Amino acid sequence: MKKYIINGGNSLYGEVDIESSKNGLLPILAGTILTEEQCVIHKLPDFLDIKNMINILKHTGMKCTYYGDTIIIDGANANTSELGIELSSPLRSSIYALGAFLGRFKKAKICYPGGCDIGLRPIDLHLRGLKDLGVKIIEQHGNIYCDGSNMKGGKVFLDFPSVGATVNIMLAGVLTEGTTTIYNCAKEPEIVDLQKFLNAMGAKIRGAGSSTISIKGVNKLHKVEWTPIGDRIVAGTYMIACAMCGGKVVLKNAIYEHNQYLINLLMRAGCNVVVKNSNIIVECTKRTKSIQKIETMPYPAFPTDLQPQLMALECISSGNSIIVENLYETRFKHVPELLKMGANIIVKNQTAFISGVDKLYGAEVKASDLRAGAGLILAGLCAKGYTTVNSVEHILRGYENIDKKLQALNADIKLIDE
Ligand code: UD1
Repeated sequence: MKKYIINGGNSLYGEVDIESSKNGLLPILAGTILTEEQCVIHKLPDFLDIKNMINILKHTGMKCTYYGDTIIIDGANANTSELGIELSSPLRSSIYALGAFLGRFKKAKICYPGGCDIGLRPIDLHLRGLKDLGVKIIEQHGNIYCDGSNMKGGKVFLDFPSVGATVNIMLAGVLTEGTTTIYNCAKEPEIVDLQKFLNAMGAKIRGAGSSTISIKGVNKLHKVEWTPIGDRIVAGTYMIACAMCGGKVVLKNAIYEHNQYLINLLMRAGCNVVVKNSNIIVECTKRTKSIQKIETMPYPAFPTDLQPQLMALECISSGNSIIVENLYETRFKHVPELLKMGANIIVKNQTAFISGVDKLYGAEVKASDLRAGAGLILAGLCAKGYTTVNSVEHILRGYENIDKKLQALNADIKLIDE
């Protein structure tokens, strides 16, 4: 049983290197299934979701060799398009194997994906989009059987700009004859990076970053060498940590534009954020002001994956604020834990009403999911006394050495393995 023990109250000073984007790298790793040639990927972060995705590649018959934080993936011998429950359930992104298998093998059999328990998280948009490309799909006893032998480019209209559905249709469309157009697609930076990665392998995709993506099918993808973008959610987490604890933190390998919405909020709250020599520098010298009302929405608006961390900040800011969670039905599980620490929050349906308190107090709390866990670490960093964060396996799925990186910033946090 691993837990974080945090002795709160230290200001944060120093530099932190932001790891590669988890949500950017997971579709890219799935994308390596599409070629028989070698893919070299640098700056591979050391956390569980990435290891689980690499296990899916190995299961597919791909040879994966590590050289430090570089991995060479060789797909010459990939030989299966089937994925069982044991490899599907540890992570949401196992669903990307569906698009990649269909792209390469024109067939797939997979199970429903797992991931954070934050709401219903259906995959109807993925499946409907694939049907629009001519894939025949049968869902039976938790398995999804797909026959893509008659796949052709087509028009896909997404009811909602789903990140996952956009990725899956891109992966399925790249090696499919004709042109596939995705309307109302996701505009997240991770989608733009996926387009760049696939185009570097010889794909013909344009439009990523806008609401329409167009994919002209090609016969073959070739080898590639790639370094993924920095993780904007991790960067945002460290920025909020600095706002809560006070101090001055320099973020390396973070991209200002990807966090612009959050940065504007932090400046309104009283922090100073500047870019110097391509680093983001956050400085906070006084108690932050509440930011009134914020709603989670698809990019470029405020990301749901920073909602728990922002809520932790609002708990200790002066004034009242309202947070509306529009993406996930049950993404307020950190609220009862924050209440144990002395926060003042009332939740009605998808809306949280927060009155800032002068101080949070250390308590024993539980991480219900990845980002909720990050929010609780931040609360612990600025609380008076000791906080124990339990169930940290969720946090380890998506933050690389967060304890060590925070220690280097002067925080008093330890990872205990009992
Ligand atoms: C991705 C991110 C996740 C982030 C989310 C929203 C990865 C690995 N995960 O998840 O961290 O929280 O984007 O920014 O990149 N929906 C449907 N039907 C579908 C698909 C989605 O109704 O077929 C709904 C979902 O329930 C949710 C919304 O659409 O309410 C957004 O989901 P989506 O953008 O697909 O998120 P994920 O790709 O699962």
